[in-house]
Amino acid sequence: MIDLRSDTITRPSPEMLEAMLSAKVGDDVYGEDQTVNELQEYVADLFGKEAGLFVPTGTMSNQICLALNTHPGDEIIAEADAHIFYYENAAPARLSGAQIFPVHSVMGEMFLNKIEEAIRPDVYYFPKTKILALENTHNRHGGTILSFDYIQSAYNLAKNHNLFMHLDGARIWNAYSITNIPLREYAKFFDTISVCFSKGLGAPVGSMLLSNSETISRAWKIRKTFGGGMRQTGLLAAAAKYALTHNLPKLKDDHTKAVDFTKTISESEFIIANPDSVATNIVRFSISEQIKVDNFVKSLAENNVLVSGIGGQNIRAVFHLDVTYEESLTAASIIKEISRKIVN
Ligand SMILES: Cc1ncc(COP(=O)(O)O)c(C=O)c1O
Repeated sequence: MIDLRSDTITRPSPEMLEAMLSAKVGDDVYGEDQTVNELQEYVADLFGKEAGLFVPTGTMSNQICLALNTHPGDEIIAEADAHIFYYENAAPARLSGAQIFPVHSVMGEMFLNKIEEAIRPDVYYFPKTKILALENTHNRHGGTILSFDYIQSAYNLAKNHNLFMHLDGARIWNAYSITNIPLREYAKFFDTISVCFSKGLGAPVGSMLLSNSETISRAWKIRKTFGGGMRQTGLLAAAAKYALTHNLPKLKDDHTKAVDFTKTISESEFIIANPDSVATNIVRFSISEQIKVDNFVKSLAENNVLVSGIGGQNIRAVFHLDVTYEESLTAASIIKEISRKIVN
């Protein structure tokens, strides 16, 4: 089976498992897990931040970051397809009593004038805008990379209005691997950052939030409240450290797989796909109205290729460590063939 549903489906390699087995562990609720402590320091340093906190998931990491800088009745501006708005079960409302003001965008970059319009005037019957949240790379827009200039302009706008900046950087690694802009440079513009080790980096579990020491010391309490205080979690931190050391340099290969896959599927007259628009490891493509998406996805599965329907005629394919370059091209040929068969 060639599984292109997500980059979260990878399984730990024997070497990663080896690293996990030899991790020195302790009770992390007491702050005594050496491997976790080392990982937190290591990743904080990568991003030029004072501290980090290891958590089980990207959702928890994002939600702790939002809870840190909001009170009930506050508002967070986020892109309309952002993970924190689209896929996190209204968690800001449920966990922090804050709501999201969604703003549409082109490829994940909300128009600055639309952000400005979304910022609430200081009037008693309006919620208080507290955070501007960006996502880089942007999942639902197809792994797009926000430009550095855009991030800088969004930051200037946010700071003129005294807003906190949050980055959902679940896949910031993919942006970095293409742009070569140091993680520290990206990080300068954000008060809180969430990163994931369990996406393209290939760790089985684990995310981390990053900020200044004062904010992270408050985050410990929120993590415990959200049920994320783990014990001998150095086993997982060791996988994350292994992923950073060995798999970060491989993310570029996923980009190559994605581009060459897209070149092949775009040869079908029933598929709309543009290799030039592939920014990282996620490919979004559309199929002709003549094809029912459910039937197409099902036929592909019967032919050993798994992809995801993401609404309308749109389909997502994601490239990762557990799919080779050759398998990517095989999947593309099968997709091309099935699209023709299903119409004729
Ligand atoms: C951009 C983005 N942010 C956050 C998450 C949440 O991560 P998790 O599934 O670990 O909660 C995901 C998951 O795919 C994601 O794509």
